[in-house]
Amino acid sequence: MTDELTLRAQLESAWARSDSLFAMLAPDAFALRPIALRHPLLFYVGHLPAFAHNQIVRGALGGETLDPALDDLFARGIDPETEGEAPSIAQWPSIASVLAYRDAVRARVRQSIAAVLERPHDVLCANGRVLSLVIEHELMHHETLQYLFAQCPDGTLSRPQHHEPIGGAGRAAVLRSVGAGFVTLGARFDELAFGWDNEFGATRERVESFLLSDLPVRNRDWLDYMGEVGSSDDHRPASMVERDGRWFVRTVFGLVPMDVAEGWPVQVSALQARAYCARVGGRLATEAELHHAARATMDREDFTAHALLQWERWYPDPVGHAPASASAFGVEELIGNGWEWTSSVFAPREGFTPWARTYPGYSADFFDGEHDVVFGGAWPTDLALVRPSFCNWYRRSYPYAFTSFRVARDR
Ligand code: AVJ
Ligand code: FE
Repeated sequence: MTDELTLRAQLESAWARSDSLFAMLAPDAFALRPIALRHPLLFYVGHLPAFAHNQIVRGALGGETLDPALDDLFARGIDPETEGEAPSIAQWPSIASVLAYRDAVRARVRQSIAAVLERPHDVLCANGRVLSLVIEHELMHHETLQYLFAQCPDGTLSRPQHHEPIGGAGRAAVLRSVGAGFVTLGARFDELAFGWDNEFGATRERVESFLLSDLPVRNRDWLDYMGEVGSSDDHRPASMVERDGRWFVRTVFGLVPMDVAEGWPVQVSALQARAYCARVGGRLATEAELHHAARATMDREDFTAHALLQWERWYPDPVGHAPASASAFGVEELIGNGWEWTSSVFAPREGFTPWARTYPGYSADFFDGEHDVVFGGAWPTDLALVRPSFCNWYRRSYPYAFTSFRVARDR
């Protein structure tokens, strides 16, 4: 049971982070649409409060609407397959009116915390579940915002303080042998105070022995690969830019030269990652395989102990900088230096429980065979989201999220 003070503190801290992210934007940047498959940046200013209002005040408590047009306009984001299908909304409201809506929603949500906790017989309110749902939703969007920012033109973002990336070549990956074992994916409903629908239920799966790179593929490895297969649109990562024959990598604060970024995990789509693996005679690992490879010791799964996550880290580290993150199998950096593509299609597990009647489509809308599970976490991922059952996914062709990969092989 999560208490009122804790939930309130988590809400306020998530809101403060949202505000600090938007505060880094130049005032005229809210109309930018840095990724044509997503709405403009202004959408996210409205989406976070609209989601909170629709879930908590209206959904769980049956309260009145504040502004039906804004509740609706900002209710949910988009994930079209191609830019051509992406809806464009002719007239977005002014930033001032969206900020006023945000503040009105926050006042209502603050007043709703106690009322939610007074309804323990409603599955949505018990343990403050709908509050955790809104908090974790906001934390996830802090990452969405950062990968949108990374696609903005240079100079759109101002650094809150002095943050320099750590450069270096990193270290080439070595294949490790991962012994066979059993892994539990997901959790029982009563095991977690809060979990997203896709975290339930729990299944036990056997993983056969296989080989796995101890580190992700780096930007410099990807440059070598493009030296062989070419740098056509199919192969060029959305995270890389070539200017006057020199390569740069996109970050939240603009382009970083390749001699700094060469050792960072490469950021690519799953289709690109699969093509690379095939070329080197390997494959992506399954979700169960990465889960198993990440265990802290043979009889203990402790994901948070080895996570490389820190708010305001802003950049990945060169690979090989965190030997202490090694799992029982000597596999490093599985959590925190970038989500890693798996070969597992995002699909309901046995016991899938869409318990939130206010949000039946959180996962179900993406069970279309076109979305794959990503494992681990990236530098903007909040530690609150790191638990063995947490599951993240993206469209296989999506190149913009903080998704990298490592190579696996059968033995
Ligand atoms: C689970 C991270 C893929 O960003 O699209 C946010 C989370 N869902 N709002 C996404 C989400 C609705 C989702 N991911
Ligand atoms: Fe959302």
